[in-house]
Amino acid sequence: MMHMNHNVVLALYLVVLVLIVNCQFTSALSTIPTRLPPGPDSLPLLGSPSFISATIRNEVVQELVSTRRDHGPIFLVKTGPITQVWVDDIDLANTLFSMESAAGRSQLKKPVFGGDFLFLVRDVKRARTIRSNQKALLAERSSSSAVSSAVQSSNLPQIINDCLAVSSSSSISWPSKTISAAAFNALITLYIGTQPLSEDEVERLLNAVAGYRRRGPATFVQAIASALGISKKLSFTDEINELLDSVVVRANASPELLPLLVSATVGGAEIFPLLLQWSVLRLSVDKATQDSLYSSLLSNPGSSVPPIFLQAAAACARDCPVSAATGPPRKITETTYINNYEIPAEAICFAMHPGLKAADGVAPWEVGLQEKTWPIHLKGATGSWPMFGSGPRACPASEQSLNFIASSIAMLVRNFEWEVACDGGVSSMFEFEGDGSLLVPKVDTKLKFRKR
Ligand code: HEM
Repeated sequence: MMHMNHNVVLALYLVVLVLIVNCQFTSALSTIPTRLPPGPDSLPLLGSPSFISATIRNEVVQELVSTRRDHGPIFLVKTGPITQVWVDDIDLANTLFSMESAAGRSQLKKPVFGGDFLFLVRDVKRARTIRSNQKALLAERSSSSAVSSAVQSSNLPQIINDCLAVSSSSSISWPSKTISAAAFNALITLYIGTQPLSEDEVERLLNAVAGYRRRGPATFVQAIASALGISKKLSFTDEINELLDSVVVRANASPELLPLLVSATVGGAEIFPLLLQWSVLRLSVDKATQDSLYSSLLSNPGSSVPPIFLQAAAACARDCPVSAATGPPRKITETTYINNYEIPAEAICFAMHPGLKAADGVAPWEVGLQEKTWPIHLKGATGSWPMFGSGPRACPASEQSLNFIASSIAMLVRNFEWEVACDGGVSSMFEFEGDGSLLVPKVDTKLKFRKR
């Protein structure tokens, strides 16, 4: 009996021990968050019906803004087999983007652009090596004076003057195409010192970049032709690579520059002119900032661009969304936890562009530009994270890019003052429409330029 009792006590002891250990284990587990971020309902395999429908209607940006409004600053969307996580909060995005497990990128099975194209390098260690080489090459091409002298070659005031010369009034449409080509020439000049592209080559490159961004054949006919294998057309990535390679060879420049030139073309050729257009529109309703910029030029007669232009460039880029996300998405390489949410491995994470003003639950196209928001907030602008990302995969060309926009704005401010040509123009000025991964102005707002 005694023996029996002993066994019962031992068994009870073991049961209690298991319960305690189990309890502690469960409570330890409960401190590990297992909740996925909230988001719209989704169907197995297909993903979120609201996003499928928005994609068909070309209204993904609007859908993102309303999802943010409904679900908060971090939300999860399923699109087919892909899990997307969107973050619309500076602190959250900074924390997430600084984590090693969130520092991957989506990589294609077949590498494009020779494999050193950082936008698509998943592996964090490999990216680190490529980055440090590219950053060294970028450093020589990022100073205000280097950028400014390359930007001079775009001769933006001449483009505006040419438009004014053929216009019957002082009001003109923004010459997007000519400015894009001129900005692209300036970008190439910055990298290789000369501009050896013909007009036709620039046009082909810009078309190829747009095609690559839209992720598909330019036309339905091309899609069929390429599916049937009868298309002789180079893929957009091949075309970009081939054209830039010939630029490098002709300029007798180092082949090391090629991957950087590809990144600059894909990352800058469309963004620069678009950001410049936004900045010009933004400044058109803020005469006070235009005047301060001009006076800073008068009090700094040297060729360098005064720092206030960097602030203006940063503030305009922050206010004006050129895309729904600030840049290429991050790939989550292993399950990551943030703010009690679990971000699953293989999810792709986007930082929402602050210009969408989704944080207040209102998008710019819903309110237009309100008079009270006209003054551009220059203070602290260059330090604001959102335009160039943060952490180990932040944009390595942020200094160069800001200098590029700042120098372009300075060229215009030195020569002109401008405003929106008609009263009605202001309300529609900030209406955008999606064009592949970019947001472009929906309305051709006429601007009135006066020479200084
Ligand atoms: C105003 C123009 C530009 C903007 C707003 C911009 C913004 C960004 C952003 C937000 C990212 C993602 C950052 C992150 O994940 O934390 C990025 C990545 C990158 N950008 Fe830019 N960028 C611009 C122009 C350029 C240019 C001209 C280059 C030329 C080399 C460039 C090269 C890159 C590269 C290589 C990456 C990927 C870095 C990596 O994955 O390690 N960008 N950019």
